Amino acid sequence: MQEELLLTPGPTPVARRTYQAMSQGIFGHRTSRFKEMSAGIQKKLQPLFGTDNPVAVLTSSGTSALESAMVNLVDDGDTVVLIVSGVFGGKFADIAGRYDLNVHVYAVTWGEAADPKSFGEYLNGLDNVTAVFTQACETSTSVLHPLSELADVVHNYNEETLFIVDAVSALGGADMNMTRDNIDCIVSGSQKALMLPPGLAFVAVNDRALNKVHSLGNRRYYLDLRMYFKSLEVDYTPQTPAVTLYQGLDDVLNMIHEETIEEVFARHKKMQNMLRRGIEALELELFVKEDAASPTVTAVTSTPEEIAHIKNTLEKDYHISVAGGQKDLAGKIIRIGHMGFMFPKDMLAILSALEDILSKLRNKNYYGKALTAAQESLYDKA
Ligand SMILES: Cc1ncc(COP(=O)(O)O)c(C=O)c1O
Repeated sequence: MQEELLLTPGPTPVARRTYQAMSQGIFGHRTSRFKEMSAGIQKKLQPLFGTDNPVAVLTSSGTSALESAMVNLVDDGDTVVLIVSGVFGGKFADIAGRYDLNVHVYAVTWGEAADPKSFGEYLNGLDNVTAVFTQACETSTSVLHPLSELADVVHNYNEETLFIVDAVSALGGADMNMTRDNIDCIVSGSQKALMLPPGLAFVAVNDRALNKVHSLGNRRYYLDLRMYFKSLEVDYTPQTPAVTLYQGLDDVLNMIHEETIEEVFARHKKMQNMLRRGIEALELELFVKEDAASPTVTAVTSTPEEIAHIKNTLEKDYHISVAGGQKDLAGKIIRIGHMGFMFPKDMLAILSALEDILSKLRNKNYYGKALTAAQESLYDKA
């Protein structure tokens, strides 16, 4: 019986120490013990987002954070722009469509990153845009958008226009910082680079966005960020939080700070490069060009027959889970997650399995090829 190697772009593996932290036993959330833990969590979360403001922690999945950004940062009748480059951009657009908003979609070819210059031209053709929404990493294609350049475009259009980023599959893996990159709001979730089970969502806002949160009326309840920020003044939550996940959150944030945020980003970058070099050595195609690729997930393409065979054989014979394509990309790509509690050795494990699968499938000798390329990248020997 082999343990499964979980290399999906979420959920991702959880460290044994985090499971242990989560099994300390439940305790009340209106206690000094909870307050102390919550205060510590805030101190450790804020540098990860790159903000000095409190970060709202919601007991719900990542989508709730997307919707929370929508209901707390734009008002009925507002004009918003959604950068849609895949399934999750589509989800943001779907959410926007449920509200009384004037919605514009800036469509980007799946597999490409938004080009700041073209996006600027598009944005400048619109009047009174109050907010622009994008993914950081579009998980369905494995693209990382150029956030700070897009933020510049948005704020050059209008200082007051908010730039809102869904970093569910990027925060804690890709180098981003709200203050440095001039991002007004970042939302994220627990089950990806943050190394936790699903169930927590995060919303961080800068002062400009916070003013907007306070300026809107009472048209939201569970997702009303005003309640979260008010409760955080005394290190509480407005509703019963997932205390167990908070215990885990405290632990993963300790892990991140023990490794240091910079080293965490560097490890993700290393895994990205190893995988990309290994995939090339296997004569598979990378779905995304080098300069648009995310350090948290990599999409690989080949014929539909090879894609199906690779995904099934990885799961059946090697106990390695990867994700397939979604919607238009179903059956056309496999997506290999490399975020959170994943390490270079995990990249070597999947590449060695791929060498075997492709050697047998194509009747060609790939043994050692991907591993050499990946290790040369890891040890800087290329
Ligand atoms: C970029 C992105 N946004 C939003 C979501 C939705 O998060 P959840 O499934 O936790 O609601 C995901 C989940 O995969 C995602 O990758």
